[in-house]
Amino acid sequence: MKSLNKQPIGVFDSGIGGLTVVKALKKVLPYEDIVYFGDTARLPYGSKSSPTIIRFALQDAKFLVNRQVKMIIVACHSVSSVALPDLKKHFRLPIIGVIEPGAKAAVQASKNNCIGIIGTQATILAGAYERAIKNLNRQVEIVARSTPLFVPLAEQGWTTGPIALQIAKTYLTPMIGEKIDTLLLGCTHYPLLKNTIAKVFKQKVRIVDAALETALETKIILQAKKLLNPQKLAGTMKFYLSDLTPNFSSIGRQFLGADLTEVFRASISE
Ligand code: DGL
Repeated sequence: MKSLNKQPIGVFDSGIGGLTVVKALKKVLPYEDIVYFGDTARLPYGSKSSPTIIRFALQDAKFLVNRQVKMIIVACHSVSSVALPDLKKHFRLPIIGVIEPGAKAAVQASKNNCIGIIGTQATILAGAYERAIKNLNRQVEIVARSTPLFVPLAEQGWTTGPIALQIAKTYLTPMIGEKIDTLLLGCTHYPLLKNTIAKVFKQKVRIVDAALETALETKIILQAKKLLNPQKLAGTMKFYLSDLTPNFSSIGRQFLGADLTEVFRASISE
């Protein structure tokens, strides 16, 4: 078996949106090998109940643990919001989610301490972003809203144009009256709609997402645990999906900014 530091980093998401985190990891940690699991057969998670999300998350993490990963990154905001404590209880390797890194990015970006958060129903109901932001700065005012239709829009590739704009306006116009200067994209899919969202706010808010901050946090953890891969070759990437859906490669390319090369179908046991 490979020594621990040479083992890959595991990343999982309910689908392929978590590839934005993989993209950031490639920038920050180019020598790390990555194994990605996307539960495309059971997406979306964001509209499911907490017990179901927790059950799926434990299965997803187990899949990665069986592939000898040295650390797990939960790239899904819904899972990170709902299931992180259960994951940490069940597995002994380092596990991080996107909530704390996302909260940090938003608090750093806001000048007036008023932050908007959008995410799936599961993410907004769980309130994990609010708690993480308040932990960093008690003074921050938060306006949170679930915007679930952004996920199918991104999956469909309808990220610009009149329909996306109309939906974005319907969700976000009530937030314009608030004094938010920063909007946190609390969902893997929303970065694809960034331009449409910015249009609704007439470019007047800073839009932040958790991907880069999560990659930076990963580096800090691997450094501290002496788990950085010593190789000086570009890391490999393997992608496991529970369903090879008709659109996975075209959407995957948008999230990753590159073609998904080594893709395998994975079955997750119930
Ligand atoms: N990955 C999910 C998230 O970030 C969005 C898609 C879903 O609902 O499963 O919350």
